[in-house]
Amino acid sequence: MSEYSKLIFSIQESKTLAITSLIKKLRAEGKEILSFSAGEPDFNTPEYIKSAAISAINNNQTKYTPVQGTTELIETIVEKFKKENNLLFTNENILISTGAKQSLYNIILALCNPGDEVIFQAPYWVSYPEITKIAQAKSVIINTDIKDNFKINPNLLKQAITEKTKVFLFNTPSNPTGAVYSKSEILDLAEVLINKDIFIVSDEIYEKILFGGEEHFSIGSIDELKDRTITINGVSKAFAMTGWRIGYAAGNKDIIKLAKNLQSHSTSNASSISQAAANAALNGDGKEISKMVEEFNLRRNYIVKELQSIEGINCPTPKGAFYTFFDVSNYYNKSFNNFTVIDSVSFCNYLINEANIGLVPGVAFGNDNCVRMSYAASMDDIKEGISRLKDSLLKLN
Ligand SMILES: Cc1ncc(COP(=O)(O)O)c(C=O)c1O
Repeated sequence: MSEYSKLIFSIQESKTLAITSLIKKLRAEGKEILSFSAGEPDFNTPEYIKSAAISAINNNQTKYTPVQGTTELIETIVEKFKKENNLLFTNENILISTGAKQSLYNIILALCNPGDEVIFQAPYWVSYPEITKIAQAKSVIINTDIKDNFKINPNLLKQAITEKTKVFLFNTPSNPTGAVYSKSEILDLAEVLINKDIFIVSDEIYEKILFGGEEHFSIGSIDELKDRTITINGVSKAFAMTGWRIGYAAGNKDIIKLAKNLQSHSTSNASSISQAAANAALNGDGKEISKMVEEFNLRRNYIVKELQSIEGINCPTPKGAFYTFFDVSNYYNKSFNNFTVIDSVSFCNYLINEANIGLVPGVAFGNDNCVRMSYAASMDDIKEGISRLKDSLLKLN
């Protein structure tokens, strides 16, 4: 038989989706697994959004739309950027896609030639290295320290830039760490980028999920960077709409056009019904988002307090998104029942088998000392999960 594609063969299965499948499998076998691996809000999509989708079906908005998206949704997005992010666009600056994941994919492929370098930090979102690989570009990863709350600084960014740097891929609030860059930190990073010929791709999918008075600042609103920043966002996280698959990219119209051409030969338009739903979501009054964020905040406060009280765990306080990302390496080389924990994968395997709780190994995000625990789960499950975690850690020695 002839060989399969070497490029696609080198792509790894999404490790977060892999753990979700393992949990499903164990549940199907009758195990009562509590999962804290979810990358999606546990809330339902608000009723007003669902009604808009039902009306779209009843009104036969079930045909192809333009590849770029419906005019209604594009105009709503232009307005959103102006009102909320201080970003001024016209319709030709916007491309609507099947999730922010596709938006990122389109843009990285539209920008990179083989051998170009894409800079991003670790811990990173799992798809960044794989999308970079598909574009035949090279990931240049800036490692961050837990004591810096997993954030880079201008010096680290400067050191990572070479002649081959094409893109700086930036994510705030961060998945997996929950770190949020302040406006002044972003302005400092921008100083490094201003005189360089580098594109900035800014993944702002968690912009609405912020705690303790943190405010979101879009790097693309900095005058000197606005022409070469592509801002990525979507409705998955803010509106509990992960399954609807709507994301969008906004920036320089020539780049958007290339991305649109690419999309025209893969998925064409994003679902017409989901676009109608996203349009309703973005035109809503934001009350549902506030309720959700309030609930996330209660859970975050509980979970962080508990984790910080466990000896051997180092857990910084996340300021956004719905994840805690904490260091468990003090437990490495400890054993129970002939099983030795040696890294983040074996740590998570130990917890799945010993405590029936599902966490995601940090190695999936480029940091093998840590694990990710999502608090997109009910308070009851979180309390039970933390109690099981504590019990099983006590057994390790
Ligand atoms: C940092 C980050 N960017 C982008 C996405 C993609 O979101 P979606 O494709 O659901 O819109 C996710 C989803 O988990 C994410 O965590």
